[in-house]
Amino acid sequence: MRELSLNDLPKHSPWPGRLLGGDDWDDQPGHGGVGVEAYDEVYANLLAMARENPDADFRDIQQSANHYAEESPVAVSRAEDLFLVDVDEKQELQDEATVASLAGLLDGGETVVSLGCGWGYELGVLAEAYPDCEFVGGDPAESGVALGRELFGDHDRIRVGEFDFRDDEWTLLEEALEASESDDEEGKSDDVVLFTQGSLTALPSVRDVVTETLAKYADRVKAGVHLEHVRELHPEETLLGLLRRRYTDTRNYNDDLLASLQTAAGIEIATATYDVVGGNPLHPLSEIRWEPV
Ligand SMILES: C[S@@+](CC[C@H](N)C(=O)[O-])C[C@H]1O[C@@H](n2cnc3c(N)ncnc32)[C@H](O)[C@@H]1O
Repeated sequence: MRELSLNDLPKHSPWPGRLLGGDDWDDQPGHGGVGVEAYDEVYANLLAMARENPDADFRDIQQSANHYAEESPVAVSRAEDLFLVDVDEKQELQDEATVASLAGLLDGGETVVSLGCGWGYELGVLAEAYPDCEFVGGDPAESGVALGRELFGDHDRIRVGEFDFRDDEWTLLEEALEASESDDEEGKSDDVVLFTQGSLTALPSVRDVVTETLAKYADRVKAGVHLEHVRELHPEETLLGLLRRRYTDTRNYNDDLLASLQTAAGIEIATATYDVVGGNPLHPLSEIRWEPV
């Protein structure tokens, strides 16, 4: 892990050039963000790879995808510092952030429901780190759900299903809550943790999703944890912060996650930690934890 100066970032990332107008990025596909269809296409390729290599486990699939997408060294961020790492080390840093986001919250017996889990790589990482908990993940990309089922179908603590934030009812979460309530003598569901990682990002605004749908379930969950790209935390007074703001705006990603959680009924934000890891240094993941009130 070598330190990287912001000045040298353009040597290792196309984004400064794209954002500041040197590249003809405006006309390229994906300029305005990445939709479910694009994810579905990527996951379909990984599904084909998994079917051709039946001995490959979830880590093998992710590693192949990472090496196909990028060459070492790659730029990453942590707490507003930039580094160069190799592709596998970048994945380790991201896995550490995923596991750490739930540290201290899980005593054993909880069910973590990951909304927008892609094909479920994070479910595999978390299930290894928390062997006494169960993990349910959902995504609208059909190939992602199919790949998750292919890789984790035999796993007794992981389940993957269909899910879309835009639905009025979140059946995947509702089922986990009902299972928890039926196991509890008093009919309470205090062992379900609502989790998202890089999936709310995909929506241009999360206000209605958070204040109208997510908030409906808040008093039935133990906690909420979001490892997401939070535009509101990007400083306005640093060059890195301004580049990050421009990145979010150019890609049409949401800019209202923190404000939506702050105004949602029944939710109290416990912690918000900026830039826990940035696999793309201009688009880092921050960690938000909330509790029902
Ligand atoms: C950057 S990927 C993150 C996947 C996974 N959580 C991870 O960290 O690797 C974004 C995911 O959000 C999903 N997504 C996009 N729109 C969504 C929606 N309306 N509801 C739920 N998930 C959505 C995509 O299909 C994709 O799998």
